[in-house]
Formats: sequence, C-alpha cells, structure tokens
Amino acid sequence: MTLAERHMEPAVPAMLDPFGRSITYLRVSVTDRCDFRCTYCMAEDMAFLPKKDLLSLEELDRLCTVFVEKGVRKLRLTGGEPLVRKNIMHLVRQLSRHLRSGALEELTLTTNGSQLARYAGGLADAGVRRINVSIDTLDPDKFKAVTRWGDLAKVLAGVDAALAAGLKIKINAVALKGFNDHEIPDLMRWAHGRGMDLTVIETMPMGEIDADRTDQYLPLSVLRADLERRFKLTDIPFKTGGPARYVDVAETGGRLGFITPLTHNFCESCNRVRLTCTGTLYMCLGQDDAADLRAPLRASEGNELLSQAIDEAIGRKPKGHDFVIDRRTRKPAVARHMSVTGG
Ligand code: 5AD
Ligand code: SF4
Repeated sequence: MTLAERHMEPAVPAMLDPFGRSITYLRVSVTDRCDFRCTYCMAEDMAFLPKKDLLSLEELDRLCTVFVEKGVRKLRLTGGEPLVRKNIMHLVRQLSRHLRSGALEELTLTTNGSQLARYAGGLADAGVRRINVSIDTLDPDKFKAVTRWGDLAKVLAGVDAALAAGLKIKINAVALKGFNDHEIPDLMRWAHGRGMDLTVIETMPMGEIDADRTDQYLPLSVLRADLERRFKLTDIPFKTGGPARYVDVAETGGRLGFITPLTHNFCESCNRVRLTCTGTLYMCLGQDDAADLRAPLRASEGNELLSQAIDEAIGRKPKGHDFVIDRRTRKPAVARHMSVTGG
C-alpha cells in the first residue's frame, strides 16, 4: 500500500451486508420530479409526491451525514432531476464539508443537464469533480421525442459549461432498440472527442410506462457485437465504483462502459443503497423491500434510532434483483419508476 492509499483508508469500518458486501456508496434521490418525461422512465402524466412529504434539505443532510459516519465514502445526488429541487446548491455546499474533512471521497450527481449551465460553476466550487449526464441521442428531434419535454441545445450548453468549469463528465445513454442503436458510434465519437467517457445502459423494467419495454429492450451483448465489427474494443479493468464494465476503444482513444443488469448480473459486487426524498431506503434497485428512515429521523434529535434503523435495513439487503424483459412477463419487476431512486 502506498502512502497515498493509506491516507484514503476510511476512518470507520464500512457497513457489511449479509453477503459480506461493504456498503460504501449512498445514492440520494433529492426529488422525484423532473423537467423531462423520458419514455423509458416515466409515463407522460406522472403523479408526483406532494411537496409536504419531502424531507427538508436539513433532514437530507442529517441522513447523509449519518451514513458518512457509518462508513459511506461516496454520495451521489440523483432524482428525478436533482437540479430542479429548490435550493439544491445549499445541500451540495453543506455536504461538501465531508469532502474537506476527508470523511467522504466523492460527492457527485447524475443529471439530465437541463440546468447545468446555471449550476456547473457552483458544483465545481463545492468540490464536485465528476458528474454523469444522461444523453440518449444527439439528434435534436429524436432527443425531443425520447425526453418528451427536453431541449438538446440547452443540455449541450450545460455540458459545455461543466467542461469549462473543469468537471469530468460521463455521458449515460440508455440503449433503445430501433431508436439509438445505430447512433451509439456517433455518440461515442462525440463524447470521446471531448474527453468524456460514454456508458450505455440496458433498460430496466421499473414502473409502468406508456411504451412496451420488450420493444425498447436492446441486449448490450448485441450492441457490443455490432460495435466490434467497426471498432477495436479491449476489455480494461477500469472501475468507477459502479457496475459498468469498460473497454478501451482504439479508434477514439476513449473509454466505453456497459451496464448490463439484464444480460450480466453484477449484484455480487454491489456496494450501494438508495435513499428517496421521503426518507425511504431501498436496499436493491430491483426489489420492493424498503426501510423507512423518516420516522426514526424525526423521532429524536439524536441519531441512535436512525443508526439502528440503518443497520437493520442493511442487514436485510437482498442478494440481487430478478429483472426480466420478455413477452411473457408483462409486469415491471418493481412498481416504482426509476425516478423514485434515480438509478
Ligand atoms: N432503465 C434503465 N435506465 C433508466 N434510466 C431511467 N429509467 C431507466 C430504465 N427504466 C436512466 C436515465 C439516467 C439514469 C439515472 O437512469 O437515463 O441515465
Ligand atoms: Fe427525468 Fe432522467 Fe427520468 Fe428522463 S430518465 S424523465 S431525465 S429522471
């Protein structure tokens, strides 16, 4: 171990789940709302939570802080769209104290980019180093079609602002059969040309949507085989703490990631849990079991009850998800939409 690595060692031992996985990563959905309505994510007329049910930013900060004290080293803010939550930068600046203390290794977020032009500078100032931006196509009309409400030009201006602010960007694209499968090479050349990684994601059966997921589902094994006819892909051990498996692309000199919940189950190395904006903790993206942390949070000013409730929840983290997408399985694996937990 080098000296630098020893400095990165957590001050507290990480939480362990029943399968011996250490839980060092918390994803926090700060709002279930979004200014887009991506067809694979949401129905067009979504019912969102009443504002009064949301945890306050102070409560979110307190919850995150307890997780950090219990060994979480990486926090990701998600949504819905995290940057549409009112005063979100206040929470980001508050949480950044854990970066400065060294308790937290990384504070990051996943965004649709619509508000990035406004917030990129502030995020960088608060110590955010990397962000994920979701872009499924670079064609303005198709972008409008898939997001229903999105404006590609605005998102691209957000990407420019984030790069100018010095943020590292990973572009996430959900692979959609017959929609963007032939566009992945362009998306890749564009991302790699600007020093950004690209990760493609298999669509997951979460929540009722207006479309048929069987029509949308593109196994990434198929996409990869396609790409291999045109590019030289070399598997590399690169990891960003998530489930993506990366390849180097010889022709672009960039990195391409594959997130394959359907074709390759990666649950054995899962290191994360997910908190919603109402204080519900989901121990697995693909299972319904959840723990309410809002009651113990509000029951006392001290954090003992909360800490106990977290231990109890981690103690029942399931082994993995049971996602399937096929013609016989009509119902989504879980009723909630991705926007509840933010991926
Ligand atoms: N399957 C896969 N990815 C999804 N996302 C939203 N809904 C789904 C789904 N059903 C993606 C978004 C974003 C990330 C948070 O999750 O495009 O990149
Ligand atoms: Fe919003 Fe992201 Fe869902 Fe699209 S995928 S509707 S941007 S939360």
